[in-house]
Amino acid sequence: MSELTELYEEIAVCQRCILAQGRTKAVPGEGPEDATLLFMGEAPGFHEDRQGRPFVGAAGKFLEELLASIDLKREEVYICNVIKCRPPGNRDPSPAEIEACRAYLDRQIELINPKMIVTLGRFSMARYFPKTSISRIHGQPKRIGGRIYYPMFHPAAALHQPKYRSAIEEDMLKIPQLLAEAEQMVDEKPPPQAEQLSLF
Ligand code: URA
Repeated sequence: MSELTELYEEIAVCQRCILAQGRTKAVPGEGPEDATLLFMGEAPGFHEDRQGRPFVGAAGKFLEELLASIDLKREEVYICNVIKCRPPGNRDPSPAEIEACRAYLDRQIELINPKMIVTLGRFSMARYFPKTSISRIHGQPKRIGGRIYYPMFHPAAALHQPKYRSAIEEDMLKIPQLLAEAEQMVDEKPPPQAEQLSLF
């Protein structure tokens, strides 16, 4: 069994925060263990909680359309969330829940070691760039430690709001070139989390 699969098994029975009580299934994430491109959302919603898979509802369908716009299929990228269990009523994750899940996400990123991390929405953005707003920095890549970090709007927010929708569509189109650049970058073993690197 791979270390990543072991991690999934650990997450499946996790009791580190109160979200364990209300979940149907934990949603660790999915995709190739050696993916170069990783998408990080916020938290599982209703459908994700039922299926144990990330981005399988409306936001996921839109994410798949966005991926198709750059000739990628979801199976080719890694997809996960900041927290692994659904908050009741899809409320925002609390700081304590994010903290409880942090070690899982750190380990996941360390094992996959992607060349580029795309953050979807403000919670995954805040993991790397806490002191800014997504409207200000979306679509602006940051190159840190051999990896590119790229903040985008959350597909659920963008889906029904024309101004965010055109922004997310445009930001997505910049990914292939950035990824090609990232793949050439020297693997410097990036820090597991870049909160300290608030470069925006
Ligand atoms: N929204 C997210 O942030 N993640 C999912 O998995 C689904 C919807």
